Amino acid sequence: MARILLTGSTGYIGSHTAVALLEAGYELVGLDNYSRSLAGVSQRIQEITGKTYTQHRVDLVDAAALNKVLEQEPAIDAVIHFAAFKAVGESSAYPLQYFRNNLGGQINLMQACDQFGIRNLVFSSSCTVYGNPQVIPVTEESPLLEPESPYGRTKAVGEAMLRDWVKSTVPQDGQERQVIALRYFNPVGAHPSARIGECTVGVPDNLIPYITQTAMGKRAQLTVFGNDYPTRDGTCLRDYIHVCDIAAAHVDAVNRLLGQNSSSSPWSVYNLGTGIGQTVLEMIQAFESVNQMNLPWSYGPRRPGDVVAVYANNRKAVDELGWQIRYSLQDMMRTAWDWEQMQAKDPL
Ligand code: UD1
Repeated sequence: MARILLTGSTGYIGSHTAVALLEAGYELVGLDNYSRSLAGVSQRIQEITGKTYTQHRVDLVDAAALNKVLEQEPAIDAVIHFAAFKAVGESSAYPLQYFRNNLGGQINLMQACDQFGIRNLVFSSSCTVYGNPQVIPVTEESPLLEPESPYGRTKAVGEAMLRDWVKSTVPQDGQERQVIALRYFNPVGAHPSARIGECTVGVPDNLIPYITQTAMGKRAQLTVFGNDYPTRDGTCLRDYIHVCDIAAAHVDAVNRLLGQNSSSSPWSVYNLGTGIGQTVLEMIQAFESVNQMNLPWSYGPRRPGDVVAVYANNRKAVDELGWQIRYSLQDMMRTAWDWEQMQAKDPL
């Protein structure tokens, strides 16, 4: 079976994808520097699947260390590149850290792919590349607008670098490079086992971890950022998608890259969203109704850099990758809450 390299394998989306790939029969090599994740996640991945894989501690910014690992791990068929910082607010405060980590790490990875004969790559992109879109839902052809944050810029530039890379001189072995960029909308929820999920350090930036921590009593109350947006209830609208559905799309993407009729296109992009927009208030209500509780919350000012409304047209991923969405909004809320409670009982 094909061997897949995962960078950022113990992160939120990386870990769920590791489970999905192992369950689909792929062999894995995982890399992480644990700067935003915990090494213990790797045991949990193996516990859930009953399968083993090799995990290495390595920072992609350190090209020599990356190359050393790849010398020990030959015959990689494809790489999925998750490793990146993703806190929007932090990126505005420290843009250079984001450029060095996300873009510097990506350049080293592309260089290593060329050196070690890895021709297939899946890239973690984001709906952030659409900026504040004029028309929703967004399709893959929607214009890429000025990113709202340095984090967003690393995704837009990351995509652009990969587009140039696939167009560059074909490697000496004659095998063309192929890249699939997956534009995630808002990944939420956790694995149904509640053994892996989103590990947040300190005060969460994202809505769902903030909701579950408020439900747990770790936070006094939730603030809804702005109630005067031009949406149906005045709060921002997003396309929330279960992290296991996001993970499944990576299996579909790798199947396509490595499949018999993979000669589709050297560069393709897919939106990964449900195609349904939910407002912040609708998310709070959904959490309350699924988990039978009332959350303390109040309105606060708008958060700088927030887009008003974005959701996906996901037809391309469904039609071309054969992607199927299996989890509902209720599943997102139930699994997010199960994970928060499990972390209190048996923390990572
Ligand atoms: C942002 C990025 C996305 C990135 C993700 C990862 C943009 C446009 N989006 O998503 O690319 O992958 O972060 O961190 O840059 N909210 C509250 N109260 C809270 C927290 C959030 O009201 O305490 C609201 C926000 O204003 C927003 C919605 O909840 O309307 C979702 O916020 P969040 O979970 O942070 O995700 P995005 O900002 O959509």
